[in-house]
Amino acid sequence: MKCLQLPSIHFYPLIHVHSTWLENYAFGYDLIHFLRPKTVVELGVFWGGSFFVFCQAVKASGSPTICHAVDTWEGDSQAGKLDESTFLEFQKNRETHFADISQVKRMRFEQALDSFPDESIDLLHIDGFHTYEAVKHDYETWLPKVAKGGIILFHDVKVVNEEQNFGVKRFWEELKKDKLHFEMNNQFGLGVLYKGTALPPENEFLRTIFQGTPEELEEIDQYYLFMKERLISRAYIQMYYRSEEKVKQLEARLLDLETKIRNKEWNKKAS
Ligand SMILES: C[S@@+](CC[C@H](N)C(=O)[O-])C[C@H]1O[C@@H](n2cnc3c(N)ncnc32)[C@H](O)[C@@H]1O
Repeated sequence: MKCLQLPSIHFYPLIHVHSTWLENYAFGYDLIHFLRPKTVVELGVFWGGSFFVFCQAVKASGSPTICHAVDTWEGDSQAGKLDESTFLEFQKNRETHFADISQVKRMRFEQALDSFPDESIDLLHIDGFHTYEAVKHDYETWLPKVAKGGIILFHDVKVVNEEQNFGVKRFWEELKKDKLHFEMNNQFGLGVLYKGTALPPENEFLRTIFQGTPEELEEIDQYYLFMKERLISRAYIQMYYRSEEKVKQLEARLLDLETKIRNKEWNKKAS
């Protein structure tokens, strides 16, 4: 597999929101292209960082996919409490760009379980509450819903945070031992688990991530680290241009106010 020919080489996010998932954006984009899942379910959506990448990849690849977003949009003690504006902005972005390929379930994860038949989900992303018990519970309750040959993603498999009682790393270390898996080697870590033992023989992308040689895996690592740097640089440049634009607007407003005050003073003197 030639990394420089992966679809993500041309990828820039359509929607910019705050998300520590940014370092996985390029991988998520490629995964949709090569998996072509019918059903994607995300548990834990927040502003939509990862969710909108999946949606963008569905549109770009023409994959026959519906992406389901499951969240209370209340936040939690680790991600922080959310006010209503998060959900409203998420919905505005979703409806503007991805209304035809996405659905929302604003509820607790358990409440959404019955909406999906057994073995119907091709890609499940677990990114809710990050304690050991919560992640284990999410995995165990949702596993029957994942199709054979489906993929389960776990965010934050490298995070060590005792203060906030993060436990994804411990759970992932236990879980991955006897299963086909891949791991994004970046700051927070993304665990990628294959449900099954036999990969589709024609899928070169899946073969490389799950059974690649050390050289192939090293190349993949380097490629996605490069893509992460590229997206971060681009995000900073955009932030810079946005703040420059804001400064220009504020300067124009200030000038306008100064003129109004000066005119008022002249009018006062004249009368
Ligand atoms: C870490 S954030 C998700 C980050 C997101 N995937 C991204 O790309 O930025 C976790 C989210 O999970 C939601 N959440 C946590 N536990 C939940 C539960 N049991 N049911 C529904 N939502 C939950 C929170 O409201 C929060 O928005």
